[in-house]
Amino acid sequence: MINYLKTYSTFLALSLLLISGINAQERIPEVEELLGKMTLKEKIGQLNLLTPGGGVATGSVVSENVEAKIRKGQVGGLFGVAGPERVRVAQELAVNHSRLKIPLLIGSDVIHGYKTTFPIPLGLSSSWDMQLMEEVARISAREATADGINWNFSPMVDIARDPRWGRIAEGAGEDPYLGSQVARAMVRGYQGDDLSQPGTMMATVKHLALYGAAEAGRDYHSVDMSRIKMFNQYLPPYKAAVDEGVASVMTSFNDIDGIPASGNKWLLTELLRDRWGFKGMVVSDYTSVNEMIAHGLGDLQAVSALALNAGLDMDMVGEGFLTTLEKSVEEGKVSEESITNAARRILEAKHRLGLFEDPYRYLDESRPAKDILSPENRAAAKEIAKKTFVLLKKHENTLPLDPKAKIALVGPLANSQNNMLGTWAPTGDVKNAIPVLEGFKRSMPGVNVSYAKGANITDDPELARKVNVFGPRVEISEKDPAELLEEALELVRKSDVVVAVLGEATEMSGEAASRTDLSLPPSQKKLLEALVETGKPVVVVLMSGRPLTIEEESRMPVSILQTWHPGVEAGNAVVEVLYGKYNPAGKLTATWPRNVGQIPIYHSAKITGRPGPDSEFQKFKSNYLDAPNTPLYPFGYGLSYTDFEYSNLRLDKKKVGQGETITATVTVKNTGDYDGEEVVQLYLRDLVRSITPPSKQLKGFRKVFIKKGATAEVSITLQPGDLKFYNSQLEYVSEPGEFEVFVGGNSEQTLKAGFELTN
Ligand code: BGC
Repeated sequence: MINYLKTYSTFLALSLLLISGINAQERIPEVEELLGKMTLKEKIGQLNLLTPGGGVATGSVVSENVEAKIRKGQVGGLFGVAGPERVRVAQELAVNHSRLKIPLLIGSDVIHGYKTTFPIPLGLSSSWDMQLMEEVARISAREATADGINWNFSPMVDIARDPRWGRIAEGAGEDPYLGSQVARAMVRGYQGDDLSQPGTMMATVKHLALYGAAEAGRDYHSVDMSRIKMFNQYLPPYKAAVDEGVASVMTSFNDIDGIPASGNKWLLTELLRDRWGFKGMVVSDYTSVNEMIAHGLGDLQAVSALALNAGLDMDMVGEGFLTTLEKSVEEGKVSEESITNAARRILEAKHRLGLFEDPYRYLDESRPAKDILSPENRAAAKEIAKKTFVLLKKHENTLPLDPKAKIALVGPLANSQNNMLGTWAPTGDVKNAIPVLEGFKRSMPGVNVSYAKGANITDDPELARKVNVFGPRVEISEKDPAELLEEALELVRKSDVVVAVLGEATEMSGEAASRTDLSLPPSQKKLLEALVETGKPVVVVLMSGRPLTIEEESRMPVSILQTWHPGVEAGNAVVEVLYGKYNPAGKLTATWPRNVGQIPIYHSAKITGRPGPDSEFQKFKSNYLDAPNTPLYPFGYGLSYTDFEYSNLRLDKKKVGQGETITATVTVKNTGDYDGEEVVQLYLRDLVRSITPPSKQLKGFRKVFIKKGATAEVSITLQPGDLKFYNSQLEYVSEPGEFEVFVGGNSEQTLKAGFELTN
């Protein structure tokens, strides 16, 4: 164990604290002592986060001369470096060759699993299972730390109500209540109770803030939003992560009130630190400090000073802090104290991780072989993936499939190993993924299944080129599309049932993957139409990183199972669900629109003064000439192989005082032929209040297992905070008056009851 800092006297440290006038209670003596020895240059060095390349670079820049910079004490952390041997080389450079021997933070984007890739986060949230989310994070942390990583750039908790935005795939969807629960679960899973324990890593909540509200769903676009909307709808998940003790925060690329997040003092200091009490470190996004030049806020020195003065601690890749802060101190544009504060927060993070005690604590060469991609982790990935699938449509009794039926497995995603992991899985390896065809062979070896591609994901080579940035995701066959189709139809004629695996390639969603058309590409539409025309029963297994506009397909005589991008065990999970080894129970966490023109569309929209009817058009009402207001599939929606019937919603009181709880209970009966799970959801409407209320808001849910024919009494208790909102003074209050409670299996089909909140 290296314990080189402890040799200095506590007395010296305490005197330093008194001199700098800082509350000794909150300071860590070792860190203060170290700060006392650091030159300005060395402090600035700690604020510098580099990536030597080799991982996925998401900007145009990759860091240079990393080794020399580490030696000079110009680097506080690295990312994109993994494996105990490689990390050891970097850590030894810092610890043995830099003057102050300060160990490095080692970061990574472990978004939905490390090597054991789980489904994309939007899929994970569709499980509505917080223990499962925590487990995903725990397994991810165990694997990543085995590879030398101590700092994760996850969870991404940006509320997204615009599926044109490709990064909707990376979060938990549209709802702040659900999003907050997910944020907390993931922080707990990554960090555990004590960051210095093996298998835990520092989490980063990102991207502060409002990144998911990019105008027109175009990535990196501007955001302009009222404070009321921010506080009530978009900020809660970030705050929930902070309340859960998240160790770091990453800023977003977008501007807020005209100032990009990385330079926004209101956001990083007034809100995050002063109002929310955040004590950890704030890191920029990839070159987001430098990008303030393009935003129009000045040169590198100006934007770097702006960021530091706003409260940003660490500069990711851009090196604006490294190259300009000293000059800004000389010119009085930045105080040395602000730099010391930023360096302190980074050193405190290293201290929490136990890196000062042992810089090599994450570098156990024996761990990767036993902890990474272990059979247990793969098994967990399979079980978890099954829980994320959402049954969108049941047609007749095609599902679950009959093991005796002869299957025609068709579609461009049916045997596409490259498209199983999903977007933002840079630490995963597509070679480990199980495609659906292989899933049939492994999970249902007795089944008679034959495969034909039938169509390309898209026939458009230009789109293919844009999507194939991280490897071949769209592979356009050398065969003519008509020939591909004919091959599939020939197979179908000889089979009993068609399973068509259709949807998006993984990189059709994710970062910088916005789309203005969310329908199935024409090549796949054509295939599906032809399959349906054969008259054979068709099951569509849909894969995508976002809600799609599939209104036409939803009217076809087909069953539809939405499986997102299911991760490393994709094929096994899909096949087990198709054959009813697990009865799907996922529920949508983002509304599926009928068409792109309805976007943004979400369940908690305001009522307006002229509420629109759901179907028939009415002049001078809030509705469209050419589409209803209702979505194709609402928030919270998802079917099961069985059916559930809701009745007898009751509340334990008619009046509730401020500070009291109220419990709703509903009877849920499994009326179908299978055992199954159901996510019982509770929505609340505040009938009269000082600012216009949403039509309803999710305020509670419970996932229950009910045997076929059985009945469950399901209770959900509302806490006093569930009746609160931010008023026009941004005070968090509940106002006396009438409330309506809606309980059901999705946000539209609900039973209703009411109560009064008294003074
Ligand atoms: C993304 C972040 C990510 C970072 C580092 C950026 O492009 O926006 O979410 O953590 O790259 O890889």
